[in-house]
Amino acid sequence: MSNTPLDIVGLCGSLRSASYNRMALELAGSVMPAGMALEIADWRDVPVLDGDVLAQGLPPAVAALRERVRRADGVVFAIPEYNYSIPGGIKNLIDWLSRGDDQPFANKPVAILTASQGPLGGARVQYDLRKVLLFMNAATLVKPEVFIGSAQTKFDAQGRCTDETTRKFVGAQMEAFARWIAAVRRMQAA
Ligand code: FNR
Repeated sequence: MSNTPLDIVGLCGSLRSASYNRMALELAGSVMPAGMALEIADWRDVPVLDGDVLAQGLPPAVAALRERVRRADGVVFAIPEYNYSIPGGIKNLIDWLSRGDDQPFANKPVAILTASQGPLGGARVQYDLRKVLLFMNAATLVKPEVFIGSAQTKFDAQGRCTDETTRKFVGAQMEAFARWIAAVRRMQAA
């Protein structure tokens, strides 16, 4: 690995200020191994996908996110489960980014974690997101999977993780993600 830190983009599936997924993403950033740095990208200004708008070119917010993902060494998604599946806002963002032969998720290392106030921690949505990323030819890390159930009991009012097991799971996933990014690079170079 070079001395330049791995540039990791975080995409949170929830926009609300007290989002547990955002807390989980921040936790991931804080437990990443040395040599990785997380920046959470803001996608609040992305409009609803409209083929007529697309035909006129990518909206500035979409174009900026597309470039941000393209230059990243990896992407970490932290998303909630809405009605057993992917929240519309983040699916809309992925749909925008998916357009064109040069879509930025192709061969991009991706890690997924989900947090929910329910006991299953988003167990159902992860596989829907994996399916979408499969079509986009993303290099999605398989294991360890991270499901943060009953998230309201694992973070305090300041958004800090208070649960050592959660911290360890997320840390282990980020270590695996660093190894996975290196492995994907070796595969692409071969
Ligand atoms: C939910 N929630 C939810 N939880 C879950 O475990 N399975 C589900 O299918 C759903 N469905 C659902 C639909 C909608 C429209 C909302 C708003 C919420 C609850 C959800 O997991 C909880 O609100 C999380 O706290 C949302 O994530 P953030 O905002 O905390 O990151």
